[in-house]
Amino acid sequence: MEQYAIKGGIPLVGEVEIGGAKNAALAILAASIMTDETVLVENVPDVRDTNVLLQAMQSIGAIVERVDRHTVKINGAHINSLTIEDDYIKKIRASYYLLGALLGKYKKAEVSLPGGCNIGSRPIDQHIKGFKMLGAEVKIEYGLIATEAPKLVGSHIYMDVVTVGATINVMMAAAMAEGLTIIENAAKEPHVVDLANFLNSMGANIKGAGTDVIRIKGVEKLHKTEYAIIPDQIEAGTFMMAAAVTKGDITVKNVIPKHLESISAKLQEIGCEIEESDDAVRVVSSKRLTHTQVKTLPYPGFPTDMQPQIAVALALSEGTSIVTESIFENRFKYVDELTRMGADIKVEGNTAIITGVTKYTGASVTAPDLRAGAALVIAGLGAEGYTTVDDIKYIERGYEDFPAKLQGLGAHIEKVETEKDFRKFQLEVV
Ligand code: UD1
Repeated sequence: MEQYAIKGGIPLVGEVEIGGAKNAALAILAASIMTDETVLVENVPDVRDTNVLLQAMQSIGAIVERVDRHTVKINGAHINSLTIEDDYIKKIRASYYLLGALLGKYKKAEVSLPGGCNIGSRPIDQHIKGFKMLGAEVKIEYGLIATEAPKLVGSHIYMDVVTVGATINVMMAAAMAEGLTIIENAAKEPHVVDLANFLNSMGANIKGAGTDVIRIKGVEKLHKTEYAIIPDQIEAGTFMMAAAVTKGDITVKNVIPKHLESISAKLQEIGCEIEESDDAVRVVSSKRLTHTQVKTLPYPGFPTDMQPQIAVALALSEGTSIVTESIFENRFKYVDELTRMGADIKVEGNTAIITGVTKYTGASVTAPDLRAGAALVIAGLGAEGYTTVDDIKYIERGYEDFPAKLQGLGAHIEKVETEKDFRKFQLEVV
């Protein structure tokens, strides 16, 4: 079984180039089929989730050409099926973005009900409500979510919860509806804004993305565009936490520092030094970190996708920290694994009470989901001795070249497949 083998205890130092945002890419790639003209998308991360989505798009007749590792050309002129029932697609949550994209363009779509990371129940009622308010019928049967509309008509939609997925899905469908749609209580995440910018570059008329109220004037047709995806806020944040945990000095490059503010602020609060420039953030961790409180919130609050990583840093900090998860109810599954590495964490409901310890020790642990998996890797890098992280398929869903990027910062980490590989790794890094 593939796993990451890690020898911890080395401060990570250097610069790391951050790739395109996975979550923006998933929305933008899906939206690319909304025109019959060819769309060029740059800065697409080469990770499992984006590749699975591209495969699913190909399976319904989209032409996908990889210009280079991070650039794809997509043509949706010859879509020949509006049903996506791919076995793989269920594994990625964002498969449902094809619903909004196909519904907008063809007024009909059927997609396997999404799965994704097992971080709690993930309802789709707000997506359904949004589609219905645009005039579509929505049915769930035979494991598919099916939606169809004689025509889509703009509407005034109030989201009951702040949801990235539903905001994105409804935005796509409404971009090609008749008349004005207003989404209230919209999500403000950078990838919501990126999708709006992308759709506008295709001729859509979307205003207010990045605020609570998004106004979309539907257009009949969208056209070709060339577009580069924003940098990945969570990949950047993960490396920033790696600096904090390993007592390192890491500069994340090719980032938008504004998108990282909630993460930078917390790191500063617990004793790291932060230096920002136009498109880079440097994190220096030179002393014992101190405790704090973190509550995950929709953007611009502290991202739920960074909760496990900061918990790994706080578990090594002086004093007692409190981490409250307010977005997903099942996001503390890494705690038992981290406890095996020496952490002292007690979970009560959606709160983790973390009593700082002075060190982690290496152990065999298993990634329970994407971000928690990355967090366990960071813990291994900060631990004494050897750690193995299993189930790295989760991590590979969202981190491109994770071991190589960490090696570039001086880490001893390698992907191994057998016990023999692991022994070899141990001999090499002694
Ligand atoms: C997206 C991100 C994910 C991130 C999450 C929160 C992608 C592909 N994934 O997930 O990495 O962790 O945002 O920032 O971009 N909800 C409902 N009804 C709905 C939809 C959501 O009640 O119809 C609730 C969810 O249960 C959750 C909250 O709304 O409590 C936020 O979920 P949402 O923002 O939709 O997350 P995703 O789009 O699935």
